[in-house]
Amino acid sequence: MLSYGFYKILHFLGIFMTISSLSAMCIYVADGGKKETFRSRKMVSAFHGIGLLLALIGGFGLLARLGVMHGALPGWVIAKLVIWLVLGGMPALIWRKPGAAKPFWALVLLFAVVNAYFAVYKPF
Ligand code: HEM
Repeated sequence: MLSYGFYKILHFLGIFMTISSLSAMCIYVADGGKKETFRSRKMVSAFHGIGLLLALIGGFGLLARLGVMHGALPGWVIAKLVIWLVLGGMPALIWRKPGAAKPFWALVLLFAVVNAYFAVYKPF
């Protein structure tokens, strides 16, 4: 049976892929890069999508191992899912508002830290 540790490492792999991908996008766009000439776009997009998927699978695997999957999801899990959705929409925002690419980059890290906070402290 897949263990808590396995799902946590999968969760982290997904998070690392997502954050590195969004960071790459932000730097490229902040430097004036355009979508059409983004030669690494396929790989960067794939890291974003696969990363989010692995983070989600890892997250629900962790919930199952913690025994949280019975009944309604606790508030901190809902909050994590909302941030997960926002990170999913980040590429659209970055391409649409290239002038804000640098603040977006900082925001991505802030979202990641807030999601770590929700998992560690489970405030609600
Ligand atoms: C992509 C955004 C996410 C980030 C940056 C993130 C971050 C983290 C971090 C850093 C931890 C480690 C906490 C620890 O070791 O105590 C963690 C644990 C966890 N995360 Fe996430 N997470 C994200 C998305 C999600 C989602 C969508 C779910 C739910 C489906 C989820 C569920 C969990 C669970 C259940 C734990 C383990 C909590 C525990 O062991 O008590 N995470 N997350």
